[in-house]
Amino acid sequence: MKSIVILISGRGSNMEAMLKAKLPCRIAAVISNRPDAAGLGIARSHGIATAVVAHAEHASRELFDAALGAEIARHQPDLVVLAGFMRILGDEFVRRFHGRLVNIHPSLLPSFPGLHTHRRAIEAGVRIHGCTVHFVTPTLDNGPVIIQAAVPVYADDTEDTLAARVLAQEHVAYPQAVRWLVEGRLMLTGDGRVLLDGECRNAAVLLVPQSDDSLLHQPLSPARERGAT
Ligand code: GRF
Repeated sequence: MKSIVILISGRGSNMEAMLKAKLPCRIAAVISNRPDAAGLGIARSHGIATAVVAHAEHASRELFDAALGAEIARHQPDLVVLAGFMRILGDEFVRRFHGRLVNIHPSLLPSFPGLHTHRRAIEAGVRIHGCTVHFVTPTLDNGPVIIQAAVPVYADDTEDTLAARVLAQEHVAYPQAVRWLVEGRLMLTGDGRVLLDGECRNAAVLLVPQSDDSLLHQPLSPARERGAT
């Protein structure tokens, strides 16, 4: 059975979704860069080993990356899962775990890399938003896509309502991606393609319809519509 290490920084709801999904793998440890991350308590309550590698206690990114890498290596995981891990990892770290380092980002990449994705999606007036699980490469929020989940953006959405809608789909998409990985069904090729069951399959894109809301019944924003062509 494969083993994984999950890295968190805060709430840990994606990590918790993974624990609840009963994935066919061993969760060797949950590691946080923040000692006060709420997710650490959740992991412990599931009997998972936890560790803290505090970025604040390291003088440079390189030293932090080295300490984090050493803590991960102790567990010899097949896969390192970034689940709301809010530190940028250096090139050397990313290369060390190439092909077995995955992340979830709360937007439909390549749109909205970086922070405040939900606010930026609303400001940009997009009608569809979502999340992306991807392999991590040295460029931030830019690696090969494994799975995406899409949700509608409504005219009366706030950052919070949109974030909650996306998060619900994160909790579906991320466990699915990790399941494929630990089952040995999904891999990254040397030339950066993502193969599922040995093939490049767009079936790995998940469009999640919202059954409780109807797009057709949402009021359109007049200001936004005036600007539209
Ligand atoms: C999620 O929206 C994730 O996509 C982003 O940070 C948030 C973390 O939430 N990278 P949680 O800690 O998993 O609850």
